[in-house]
Amino acid sequence: MEKQAQKKEMDNKKVVLTGMQPTGKLHLGSLLGALDNWCRMLDSYDCLFFLADQHAITMPHVPAELRRNAMDCVAQYIACGLDPKKCKIFLQSQIIGHAELMWVLSCLTPIGQLERMTQFKDKSKKVGQFVCSGLLFYPILMAADILLYNADLVPVGEDQKQHLEITRDIAQKFNGTYSDMFVLPEPYIGQTGARIMSLQNPTIKMSKSDKNQNGVVYITDTNEIIRKKITGAITDSGNDIAFDEKNKPGISNLLNIFAAIEGISIEEAVRQFSSLTSYVPFKQAVADAVIGKISPMREKYGEIVQDKDYMVEVLRAGREEAQRRANKMISKVYRKVGFVME
Ligand code: TYM
Repeated sequence: MEKQAQKKEMDNKKVVLTGMQPTGKLHLGSLLGALDNWCRMLDSYDCLFFLADQHAITMPHVPAELRRNAMDCVAQYIACGLDPKKCKIFLQSQIIGHAELMWVLSCLTPIGQLERMTQFKDKSKKVGQFVCSGLLFYPILMAADILLYNADLVPVGEDQKQHLEITRDIAQKFNGTYSDMFVLPEPYIGQTGARIMSLQNPTIKMSKSDKNQNGVVYITDTNEIIRKKITGAITDSGNDIAFDEKNKPGISNLLNIFAAIEGISIEEAVRQFSSLTSYVPFKQAVADAVIGKISPMREKYGEIVQDKDYMVEVLRAGREEAQRRANKMISKVYRKVGFVME
C-alpha cells in the first residue's frame, strides 16, 4: 500500500535525470556545478541519478579501474547528499535500453551536427590518431539517457548545455517523424558554480584530466591539501577582491567557489571582502569554506565505501526502477518505429 502511494506521488512530480562519468574522484567543479543542485531537487522532483559508465569507454580506460571507480562514485554520490531514500541511483550499463534507444535516435541524427559538437572536436584532438565512432555518437547516447525516462529537467554544468540542445533537436525530430512521444527536456544550470575553473589555470575548467593536479580539489583531499591548493591558487596582479572574469579570472573563480558554497550571490561575496587590501585573508576564507563543505563528505564517503552490501542494495533498487521505466519506453518507441512487438 505504501509503495502504491509513493508511486502515485511520483507520477505527479516532474522527472529529473542526470549523471556523471565515473572517472573516480568527484572534484569541486562537479560538486558545485552539479551534485549540489541535484541535492536541492530531491524533495520536489522524481529524481533519477546514474553513472555514465557506457560514456566512459569512449576514451581509453583500464577495465578494472572503471569498475572500481563506478562503485567509488556511488559512495561519493551518497556522501555528497544524494539520499537513496529520496531518489534512484543506478549504473547506465546495467539498464537495457540506453544503447537500444541510442540506435533508434542515431537514425534521426545528422552526422554533420555530431561533427560540429565542441566536445567531439576537443576530445578527438586529445586522443590523437584513433578517434572511435563512440566519441562521435556520445551526444546521441546522452540524448537516449535523458529521453528513455522522459526527463523534464536535466541539472548540469555549463559545459553540457550543447548536449542538451542536441537532445531537444533529436526529440523534436522523433516527435515530428513518428508522433509526439518525448518531452523536450530543459537544462537546469545553477546561478553560481556552473563553471568552476582550474586553480592553476583559471581559463580552463576544473577537470580530473588536468595535468596540474594542484588545480583540482577532490572531495577525498585532506584539509591540509585543500588549504594548500586554495591558498596556492594562481591569482591576478593587484590586490582588490573584484569579480572580473576577463581581467581577474583567478579571483573571480575563487569568488564563484565561495558564493556557491555559501549559497550567496557573487555581489554579496564581493561585498563581504570589500574591505580587504590583500589576497591572503581572502584565500584563507575561501579555504575555510571549502574545508567546511568537503570534510564531512570525505568522512561519510570513508564509511559508505566500506559498506559494500549497502551500495549493492542501493544499486539493486535503482536498477529495478530504472529498468521498469526503460522497458516501458523502449516498447513504445519500437512500436512507433514499426518493429514487430508480438
Ligand atoms: P561529467 O562527468 O563531465 O560531469 C558531471 C557534471 O559535472 C559538471 N561539471 C562541472 N560543473 C562546473 N564546473 C566544472 N569544472 C565542472 N566539471 C564538471 C558537468 O557539467 C556535469 O553536469 N556527458 C556528461 C554525463 C552524462 C549526462 C547524461 C549528464 C551522460 N549522460 C545525461 C546529464 C544527462 C559528462 O560527461 O559529465
